[in-house]
Amino acid sequence: MEKEEHLICLGIESTADNLGVGIVSSDGRILANEVEVHVPKTGGIHPREAAQHHSAEFGRVLEKALKAAKIRSKDIDLISFSQGPGLGPCLRTGATAARALAVYLNIPLVGVNHCIAHVEIGRLMSSAKDPLTLYVSGGNTLITAYESGRYRIFGETLDIAVGNCLDTFAREAGLPYPGGPAVETIAAKGNQLLPLPYIVKGMDLSFSGLLTAAILKLNEGQCRLEDLCFSLQEVAFAMLGEVTERALAHTKKHELLLTGGVAANKRLRSVIQLIAEEHGAASKFVPQKFATDNGAMIAWTGILAYVSGLRTDVETSYIDSHWRMDEVEVPWRSSN
Ligand code: ATP
Ligand code: FE2
Repeated sequence: MEKEEHLICLGIESTADNLGVGIVSSDGRILANEVEVHVPKTGGIHPREAAQHHSAEFGRVLEKALKAAKIRSKDIDLISFSQGPGLGPCLRTGATAARALAVYLNIPLVGVNHCIAHVEIGRLMSSAKDPLTLYVSGGNTLITAYESGRYRIFGETLDIAVGNCLDTFAREAGLPYPGGPAVETIAAKGNQLLPLPYIVKGMDLSFSGLLTAAILKLNEGQCRLEDLCFSLQEVAFAMLGEVTERALAHTKKHELLLTGGVAANKRLRSVIQLIAEEHGAASKFVPQKFATDNGAMIAWTGILAYVSGLRTDVETSYIDSHWRMDEVEVPWRSSN
């Protein structure tokens, strides 16, 4: 019984190029959050190479996390892992490690939806209670809020994620990886808004046409890179702002949370802040350290799920690389 009151969860994150091991206690303290990033030699992420990186590094990252948390493996009460969505080979590597640990330590296993984990770490770190959330990363772009037992999706990208759009453009422009921060730095020196396609379809977004047009302009070489980065950001963030604002007006939530890797962007933060202010909502931001993929968010969501009675059998703990967040029951939210 005493164990139920104070739990320690070890969470494994391995959806894409980050391998994360986080250790979190049930009172919301982050005891460890070790992240190891796989940087591809050329081009974008190669799923199998990233997975090989994760399996080669797992032992070392696990050891670092236990050391940072100043605990031994026997102090862990449960294991959670990113069960999806994400890249199959990467997810499988994390899931295999999680199953092995749970069986070896004879403790429960909880599979966690990666998108929900981004929202939950944002809520924990920003003290948001019931926000509308804009979750923007390299693989996901969606607007979500809790409603009747689930995180509902109010709008999402129909093709590539906004982070992927920035990363691919940056790669074409010869900027360092990851592209988002590099584009942000250069955009700060731009001031001329170039015409680029602005694509919002109802509550959904599309970034592939914007990316193609930006690369075309880049290759034409008729404009300054500073102005092109500036314009790419302005158009992409205005699109995000439009859908977010409409969802905020519709849901009437009192908090607006920005989470995911692209939440690090200062320009996007200012757009979100402005929208929140105009609607009398509080703007909430996930701290940089917890914005990009990390194990702590998986560990924390594992605790929330476990405490509300959810378990994942090792035998049926398959990964689901297309697992949508609105398919998941979130019983821990039903009381607030
Ligand atoms: P997911 O699996 O959730 O889609 P991911 O693998 O893309 O996640 P994250 O760590 O959540 O990983 O996000 C990484 C993305 O965030 C990259 O596209 C990166 O360029 C972007 N990013 C990071 N910092 C900035 C920034 N300052 N401005 C814009 N984008 C940024
Ligand atoms: Fe992520």
